Amino acid sequence: MSQPRHIVQQTPGLPTSDGAGVKLTRIIGSPEINMVDPFLLLDTFESDQPGDYIGGFPSHPHRGFQTVTYLLEGRMRHKDSVGHEGVIEPGGVQWMSAGRGVVHSEMPEQENGLLFGFQLWVNLPASEKMSAPDYQEFPAAQLPVQTLENGGTVKVIAGKTDQGTVGPVHIAATDPLYFDVRLEAQDSFQQAIADTHAGFVYVIEGGVTIGEDVLEKSLGVLGDGDFIDVQAGPKGARFLLIAGKRLDEPVARGGPFVMNTKAEIVQAFEDYNTGQF
Ligand code: FE2
Repeated sequence: MSQPRHIVQQTPGLPTSDGAGVKLTRIIGSPEINMVDPFLLLDTFESDQPGDYIGGFPSHPHRGFQTVTYLLEGRMRHKDSVGHEGVIEPGGVQWMSAGRGVVHSEMPEQENGLLFGFQLWVNLPASEKMSAPDYQEFPAAQLPVQTLENGGTVKVIAGKTDQGTVGPVHIAATDPLYFDVRLEAQDSFQQAIADTHAGFVYVIEGGVTIGEDVLEKSLGVLGDGDFIDVQAGPKGARFLLIAGKRLDEPVARGGPFVMNTKAEIVQAFEDYNTGQF
């Protein structure tokens, strides 16, 4: 390890809504931060007001990338055109590869209480955009937790900690790392992240310093380097650390479809409208 990654851009995201009126904050995939290749979008939703989430995300299609739903609080039922159905519980993750096409719904499985989670879109390389849909789902109990020297923890969804704990999700093309890290006050955390990867942290609670301070409920995009050294603030910190191998391919977006060219987006709409999904 030689070059520490520092924060090069920060944002609290932009409030918006999606699905059937779900209030959320768009952190990546906004006019501010279009993408952090291979990550196309990051949304967070956090509310204990049912009116903010009860409409959920009724049936809608995707093609060309993966959607990753990680719930901290609350329950969501998903159902898709490939025949998968299940409920994501607190601490659980669903990593869906839409490939050539999936129609799915994601609906709150609750009428009140807190719903708090994240959705991340991970791009697929051109060679895999039309692959068969696939999904992996892991409840909290199946996600390994690495305990750090000073009492901090790293829950590993994807990737490998420097201490050797490996997450259950493996995606060859983007080789992602997806950690949920908790640090005690003033504690520090180091992690190797290959220089082929782009990445970011999102601070859920507390604050961290990675070259510069990243405040609570803010995204910090990581610059070049091959490891990060995170310092927790006086109140400790909980943050997501997410990184993936850059694809360096052209990106054409069309709502729920992400392909390489405009023509492929037009084709996606045509295929969806003619019932090919
Ligand atoms: Fe979706």
